[in-house]
Amino acid sequence: MRMQQICFTQNLGADVDALIDALQPDRLFVLTDHTTRERCLPRLVSQSRHAAAAVNISIGATDTHKTLESLSHVWTCLCEGKATRHSLLLNLGGGMVTDLGGFAAATFKRGIAFVNIPTTLLAMVDAAVGGKTGINFHGLKNEIGCFREAEAVVVDTEMLRSLDMPNLRSGYAEMLKHALLEGGEMWADHLRFDLARPDLSRLQQLVAQSIHTKQRIVAADPHEKGLRKALNLGHTAGHAFESLAMEQQRPVLHGYAVAWGLVCELYLSALHAGFPTQEMHQTVRFVREHFGLPAISCRDYERLYALMQHDKKNVGENINFTLLAHLGEVRLDQHVSRQEVFDSFDFLREGGA
Ligand SMILES: NC(=O)c1ccc[n+]([C@@H]2O[C@H](COP(=O)([O-])OP(=O)(O)OC[C@H]3O[C@@H](n4cnc5c(N)ncnc54)[C@H](O)[C@@H]3O)[C@@H](O)[C@H]2O)c1
Ligand SMILES: [Zn+2]
Repeated sequence: MRMQQICFTQNLGADVDALIDALQPDRLFVLTDHTTRERCLPRLVSQSRHAAAAVNISIGATDTHKTLESLSHVWTCLCEGKATRHSLLLNLGGGMVTDLGGFAAATFKRGIAFVNIPTTLLAMVDAAVGGKTGINFHGLKNEIGCFREAEAVVVDTEMLRSLDMPNLRSGYAEMLKHALLEGGEMWADHLRFDLARPDLSRLQQLVAQSIHTKQRIVAADPHEKGLRKALNLGHTAGHAFESLAMEQQRPVLHGYAVAWGLVCELYLSALHAGFPTQEMHQTVRFVREHFGLPAISCRDYERLYALMQHDKKNVGENINFTLLAHLGEVRLDQHVSRQEVFDSFDFLREGGA
């Protein structure tokens, strides 16, 4: 499989214009959400002559707008703007915009080209890369979608200057996951990074490593038949924390839930797959410092367990975990007992002590 082109830019306008010159679309559209239209679009249009002349399309911000209605709005704007098969859509935003915009492009006239310009850390290292697109439907996340890769992903960490700290931390949790999957120096570098006072040029280097890890895993298994499940590390427990928080009407950002999920799954990795406890404790300390603890008590354990059983990635009642035997050494489809899962919740709540 061809590796998706990733451009780490120091000069957004020149790089975007060069990309558009090479692709030679007949018409250009820029999709934003209402927040990235305010916070990010001015930077793009002040630097790129092509973007300045593009047709703007904007949808409501956050995941509640990752809907059929927003998608229909994008299709309508493409029609009204006389988009053809040779037109190009630039998706300027977080994962919501890159997922929905990617799907809009993949389906319009059976597929037009799109370029992602991610503006959140989570989109840079995860959502904008790897070819998954889609929308939420019938109360289910990412229920409708397809695999379709962007022509290119343009990464400009300067975009992150306006991003709030919780969203920055949320994206960093996915980077921590990639660092655990990669191991070696990358893991150590990620634990050393000062997330409370982020240095954007250093972050750009870590983002590059993180994207490389995701691309390596996706290239080996583009349609999620096996190895791509490695990317699920932290997500089996993480999704349960996310869903429970939603049910209890105190939603948490995805990355926070993933960070807590990583703690549980490192505990299970140590118990089941021989993951070294020293590295487990070092990672857990980092999570506790930057992500705190989830608001759960032992009364929530049964519900969390049931949510894990119903995760769409499982077949039957068995919960499939992605665990680690060492840093960088993945064990797929691992099964652990119910009691051990409950013990991992205790471990998390006790701050990994
Ligand atoms: N396709 C994939 O492989 C994949 C992987 C992970 C997540 N996702 C999807 O990504 C989405 C989550 O992405 P997200 O965390 O980027 O959320 P998001 O796109 O909703 O962005 C979060 C918030 O930050 C705002 N924002 C974006 N960039 C900003 C900036 N530079 N400055 C200030 N505010 C900014 C947005 O308007 C929004 O309000 C979910 O829909 C999830 O399903 C997809
Ligand atoms: Zn995730």
